[in-house]
Amino acid sequence: MLLWLLIALASAAPSERKVDFKTDVQPIFEAKCQPCHFPGGKMYDKLPFDRPETIVKLNEKLFTRIKDESSRETIRRFIRLRSDRP
Ligand code: HEC
Repeated sequence: MLLWLLIALASAAPSERKVDFKTDVQPIFEAKCQPCHFPGGKMYDKLPFDRPETIVKLNEKLFTRIKDESSRETIRRFIRLRSDRP
């Protein structure tokens, strides 16, 4: 029984790699959206980009400003995996 579970987990894992907010998503915004959407910036009160909730809420609206496809894919994957959770 346990063996089957391990095989199932091992084969399921690579298809949807976990996306971590702090290490995968936040750096995209840190690179491009400083200083305004980070602490001390003028949009930090309304749209703080160090909070996962902001990213999930804005979703596709971010793509007017995030143009490169690999960043978009990371953001999409993050939102998708997050909304799978109960
Ligand atoms: C120079 C400061 C500055 C930087 C850098 C900046 N923003 Fe903003 N952002 C603002 C201001 C001010 C507003 C509110 C007024 C407006 O909508 O232009 C705003 C509003 C927004 C909105 C909400 C308005 C809408 O279009 O729906 C989004 C989404 C957004 N920013 C995304 C980003 C992203 C993504 C980046 C980085 C790629 C970024 N911003 C970088 C200042 C900035």
